[in-house]
Amino acid sequence: MSIVVTGATGHLGRHVVEQLLEKVPAEQVTAVVRSAGKAADLAARGVRIAVADYDAPETFDGLFAAGDKVLLISGNEVGRDRVGQHRVVIDAAKAAGVALLAYTSAPGSLTAALADDHRATEEVLLASGLPYVLLRNGWYHENYTENLAPVLEHHAVLAAAGEGRVSSASRADYAAAAVAVLTGEGHENRTYELGGDEAWSFAEYAAELSRQTGEEIVYNPVTPEALTGIMTGAGVPEPAAAAFAGADVSIGRGELVVDSGDLSRLAGRPTTPLAEAVAAALKG
Ligand SMILES: NC(=O)c1ccc[n+]([C@@H]2O[C@H](COP(=O)([O-])OP(=O)(O)OC[C@H]3O[C@@H](n4cnc5c(N)ncnc54)[C@H](OP(=O)(O)O)[C@@H]3O)[C@@H](O)[C@H]2O)c1
Repeated sequence: MSIVVTGATGHLGRHVVEQLLEKVPAEQVTAVVRSAGKAADLAARGVRIAVADYDAPETFDGLFAAGDKVLLISGNEVGRDRVGQHRVVIDAAKAAGVALLAYTSAPGSLTAALADDHRATEEVLLASGLPYVLLRNGWYHENYTENLAPVLEHHAVLAAAGEGRVSSASRADYAAAAVAVLTGEGHENRTYELGGDEAWSFAEYAAELSRQTGEEIVYNPVTPEALTGIMTGAGVPEPAAAAFAGADVSIGRGELVVDSGDLSRLAGRPTTPLAEAVAAALKG
């Protein structure tokens, strides 16, 4: 029996494995990765490594065992058949008779196109009859704090979110919720709406950046079309730029404010304040 984490060499997956290792012996953790080389550090610490690819169903044959608890971290290739990719993992988990499959989804309130794959995957998971947990992750702080260079250069935060607010949290916070579910009891067939304790607006974000940098940084609200154009002009592929702009529209409508309290409850502590994530990013 193992706790199995897919996408383990991704940003969220690494946080999950790191936090699991604080709670359970390394030999009880299996990292599912596409490249064993990328996971060499985890193997050195005693984590079991399984090499598999959502695009190659046969690589999941025999990967899971009865009683395993599985975290399926959603794929990151927007525009691919992500639902088909996730179905490969769910089918293999079902065939093995795992005890639990937790899936990193999107907030139930999110209507942006980005959420379509998540809603469809949730349906596949529920139809499988497996004991499930839906970890409906809200936005990451890192969506913003990892992209500070153009903001600092132009002294402007650009977004197509109007006055909308977003309750983001750090990836480490979402990982803590996943670890609580994977190592705790009584989470079967539960849906958690996960978001940071505090929602913020882009004007407030710009003000926080100004405060911490000592420079004047303003919020420039733009239309979704303008944002898509600016992003494609900067080299972002059109589908990704359109998906970003669509997410901003959802923020403008308040769809990424998650006030359930589920995240801090599962993590057992308050979520990371945006100001803290900004400070860490500015420190570099
Ligand atoms: N809530 C948010 O704000 C937000 C923002 C961005 C993304 N997301 C979603 O949340 C997921 C986790 O976030 P993250 O920051 O950890 O993303 P990430 O760093 O891009 O990690 C994605 C992981 O998925 C793995 N993966 C992708 N395609 C795969 C395939 N065909 N077979 C097996 N593994 C595959 C990647 O493997 P490699 O390590 O081999 O590349 C990587 O480990 C993302 O994939 C995306 O669905 C959420």
